[in-house]
Amino acid sequence: MNKQLNLAVLVSGGGTNLQALIDAEKSGILKSGKIKLVISNTKGAYALTRAENNSIKTLTLDKKEFVSRERFEEALISALDFNEIDIIVLAGFMSILSADFVKKYDKRIINVHPSLIPSFCGVGFYGLKVHEKALEKGVKVTGATVHFVNEIADDGEIIMQKAVNVRKNDTPEILQKRVMKLAEWKILPKALEKVCYNLLKLKEISK
Ligand code: GRF
Repeated sequence: MNKQLNLAVLVSGGGTNLQALIDAEKSGILKSGKIKLVISNTKGAYALTRAENNSIKTLTLDKKEFVSRERFEEALISALDFNEIDIIVLAGFMSILSADFVKKYDKRIINVHPSLIPSFCGVGFYGLKVHEKALEKGVKVTGATVHFVNEIADDGEIIMQKAVNVRKNDTPEILQKRVMKLAEWKILPKALEKVCYNLLKLKEISK
């Protein structure tokens, strides 16, 4: 089995998780999939520069420039089809996809969330908010989760999780950085490799 699946990474911001995937591809941790396309819903996102620096094709689809979410998702689907994408990775992608879109790519969209699901997740739990809430609650352990995406926010099957200790003087910013470094950047590439490997195996069997 030496084939690779085509991956699209959807981003909105700095793209440190995308960078972790690019690095994993280079080091061989990610070998059953290849990043073919990076799509940003924010113009000028630094994630796009990271992709360009690594000769990965990029596309910006700004939802505000479409008359409706349906038109935005049609454009998204066209780009995914055209590039023959097998797996979609949401890596710091700050937009909710419709139930129809998610159903079309059942078990083929994965997301990284900066908490141990089912804690501190769901609608409204994104970015720093997740870490603010974890500190407010006084949890001693938090972490990150990679999961399949279904039509309910942060509800899909869990693929991988990693715990991170909270320290006494943590601020949301400090905790966010530690969770990214110790958990998100580690488990996202590993979970993606696992998903790609399993899907490739399934494709082989059903040939
Ligand atoms: C990360 O915490 C990710 O889990 C969240 O957005 C943050 C920034 O990600 N969804 P990135 O640096 O753009 O990858």
